[in-house]
Amino acid sequence: MEVIITPSAGEASAEAARIVAALIRAKPRAVLGLATGSTPLGFYDALAEMHARGEVDFSQVTTFNLDEYTGLAPDHPRSYARFMQEHFFSRVNIAPGRIHIPDGLARDIPAHCEAYEAAIREAGGIDVQLLGIGSDGHIGFNEPSSSLGSRTRLKTLTERTIRDNARFFASPEEVPRHVITMGVRTILDARRCLVLAFGDAKAAAVAAMAEGPVTADVPASALQLHASCALLVDEEAAARLKRAEYYRWVYANKPAWQRTPQAQRP
Ligand code: PGA
Repeated sequence: MEVIITPSAGEASAEAARIVAALIRAKPRAVLGLATGSTPLGFYDALAEMHARGEVDFSQVTTFNLDEYTGLAPDHPRSYARFMQEHFFSRVNIAPGRIHIPDGLARDIPAHCEAYEAAIREAGGIDVQLLGIGSDGHIGFNEPSSSLGSRTRLKTLTERTIRDNARFFASPEEVPRHVITMGVRTILDARRCLVLAFGDAKAAAVAAMAEGPVTADVPASALQLHASCALLVDEEAAARLKRAEYYRWVYANKPAWQRTPQAQRP
C-alpha cells in the first residue's frame, strides 16, 4: 500500500482528484467507484472545480456508489443518492443513466445485490474506487467481522457507526439499522483503490488498516492485499502510523515518472 501523508485534507483531496481526472483523460469511459460521508467532500469539490474549468469531461464516465441505507428513497434528504446528487452529480456532466447507487427501497434485496454486481461486471469493472474508512475500520459499510470475500449484500450497522452517522440525522434512532453495501471482495476487484482519511478520530483505524494484521476485525486491512492501493491521509490521521517517516521519505524520493502514471494508465 502506498501511504501519502499530506499537510492537510485539502491537499490530499486535490491529489486524489488529480489522479481521477488523469484517469478520465486517459480513459474517457472510465468506471468510478464512489463514496459518501464527510471525507470525500473536498475531493468532489476539487473535481467539480476542474470540470468547471473545462479540465475534465464526465460525459462518458460510469459510476457505482459503495452503499446506501435501506428504507430511504433516493430523494430522502439523508439518502446517499441525494448526497451524491447535491455534492457531485449536479455539478458535473455525468449522464444520469450511467449513475449506479444501490436502491434502498429494493423489494428483493438479494436479487438487487446480484444485479448490482452484474452491472459492475458488465461495465468492465471499476477502474478506481474511492474509499473513506470508518472509525471502526469499515470500508463501504463492511463492518468488523465482514467476510473478506463478501460481495454486495445487506449489512447491519454497528452501534458505533450508528453513533458516528447520527450527526446527519435528527437523532441516533433515525439512522437506519440496515444498509446495502458492496462487499470487501467487490472493492478488492477494483483496478485501483484510493483511500482518504482525515482527522485524529481516524488515526487508530488508519494504523490498523495499513500496518496491522489482515483481519475481518478491521475490514479495511484487506486492502493490504490489493496490488494498487493508495492511502492519502492528513497529519492527524497519520499520527499513529509507526512507519510515517519511511512513507514520507519514499514519497519525497519517488522518481517523477512514477508520481502519476498508475493513474494515467487506463
Ligand atoms: P466519514 O465516513 O467520511 O463521514 O468519516 C467514512 C466512512 O464511514 O467510510
